[in-house]
Amino acid sequence: MSNSSSIDRRHFIIACSTLGSSLLVPQISFAKEDETEEVGPAEDLMREHGGLNRILLIYEEGIRRITAKTNVDLSVVKKSATIVRTFIEEYHEKLEEEFIFPRMRKEKKLVELVDTLETQHKAGRKLTATIEQLSVQSTLKSESETAKLISAINQFIRMYRPHESREDTVLFPTFHKMLSEKEYDMLGEKFEDREHKLFGKEGFDGIVEKIMELEKSYDIYDLTKFTPHI
Ligand SMILES: [Fe+2]
Ligand SMILES: [Fe+2]
Repeated sequence: MSNSSSIDRRHFIIACSTLGSSLLVPQISFAKEDETEEVGPAEDLMREHGGLNRILLIYEEGIRRITAKTNVDLSVVKKSATIVRTFIEEYHEKLEEEFIFPRMRKEKKLVELVDTLETQHKAGRKLTATIEQLSVQSTLKSESETAKLISAINQFIRMYRPHESREDTVLFPTFHKMLSEKEYDMLGEKFEDREHKLFGKEGFDGIVEKIMELEKSYDIYDLTKFTPHI
């Protein structure tokens, strides 16, 4: 949700409380139009999962190159791991841990799932630390260090695909139903504020740009390359 649309919404709410209902009809239709452009907290988090999925594809390409011993530039993997740490672990997962998990536990909803997801966040951070640390060219000189890096990346991919899919299809829809529309919108604004505080005006778009550059480095950016010739 853009800052301007949230400001518009606040102005609209103030207008509703100060004007008589007979004057509101045209403004209601305006507010509805405005509302369709807003990004709620679940959609926000799901877009971020999309970014994470693109990083998982870079990781897979990194493993393919390491195994094939061709054009292995581990700085691409390292930069990807840095995005995972700063954007996914220190921002996206913090939002889940601060705003979603405690509410689910308080209302005794999907508690077992929440516990598993939180344990996985912790495991993910350990794996990312290993990936970041071992993603240097000198790792390739040692077979055991290379195997350690490949194993950490594989474990990360294996855990995060089901992790984020479960959040998208089970956790977020349940969480959405638990909140009033007002609470849900306010949370969206909170997420947006934090995103821009941590990642500047560009926010998520800036992160996607960075991911795109990394995809280009590994020649997996061009989507048409993935279309089968049938
Ligand atoms: Fe998560
Ligand atoms: Fe998530």
